[in-house]
Amino acid sequence: MKIIGPDALVFGVDNLPACSQYLMDYGLADVGNGRFEAVDGTAVVLRAKDDPSLPASMGTASMLRETVYGVADEATLDAIATELGRDREVTRSGGVLRCVDDMGFALAFQVTVRRPLGPQVEKLNAPGSPPQRPVNVVAVDDQAPSLPLTLSHVVYFVPDEAKATAFYIERLGFRITDRLGGAGPFLQPRGTQDHHTLFLIQTPPFMKGVEHFTFHMAGPTALMQAGSRFVAKGYESFWGPGRHRMGSNWFWYFNSPLGCHVEYDADMDQHDESWVARMAPIGPDASQLFLFTHREKWAPGGPPPGAAAQP
Ligand SMILES: [Fe+2]
Repeated sequence: MKIIGPDALVFGVDNLPACSQYLMDYGLADVGNGRFEAVDGTAVVLRAKDDPSLPASMGTASMLRETVYGVADEATLDAIATELGRDREVTRSGGVLRCVDDMGFALAFQVTVRRPLGPQVEKLNAPGSPPQRPVNVVAVDDQAPSLPLTLSHVVYFVPDEAKATAFYIERLGFRITDRLGGAGPFLQPRGTQDHHTLFLIQTPPFMKGVEHFTFHMAGPTALMQAGSRFVAKGYESFWGPGRHRMGSNWFWYFNSPLGCHVEYDADMDQHDESWVARMAPIGPDASQLFLFTHREKWAPGGPPPGAAAQP
């Protein structure tokens, strides 16, 4: 089963205008019909929470109503339909399979909509290596678009992590790349080498739902630039910027009106089947290599930020 990763996340929200503005300010493009796309066509889809076209709510505060997976080919859709059809209802309409996982998360599968991105990587100059950026080309560009490139991963709060993990491994061919003890596994489907497209966290049942989702940025500079712009627009930083240990991805999380956190990430590790999964108890050192807090811009010669407010 060549499942690549999430093509789209569908939300049923309380406040459509606020969520729409949030996703546009985050950097996604409003392409109409409630769809907000990254550069490669992966997306977040917004609907009003009482929209009858949505799969049922899970009965918690979570606004996530469907995770749409992109797969490589029709053969994968056939394999998923056969496998999951053994013990649950699987519908197939317009090239999209729909069913529900063992925790009650609505899933859809389709041949991926992802468009090829082409080279996007940030170019670094380092002593001892040939310059990646040509001579006289500067790295800092105030006008750089810093756009989310592709939907990276989604994180679920689940009431039975072992059962949820078994479903994705045994029924859909995911594998565990690493595990944070006390939380859950990082999971990678077979159609990608990204460290994870799904992370599961054990929680009480009332918390079941989405904890956050993330789009890949071109690199740490794009992540910092996008996050700084997001702060400047008034959005609240929740965690970051920093660099995770498992997956090595740079991160910056924000609060959102979608009932979950929303992250920028960059430079995630790639793994194949030869990788041996690690396990570390969850804690600050296991969660990140380093962590910073955003500050207002400042320059030598003036008071430090906030100094003017001191008595
Ligand atoms: Fe994340």
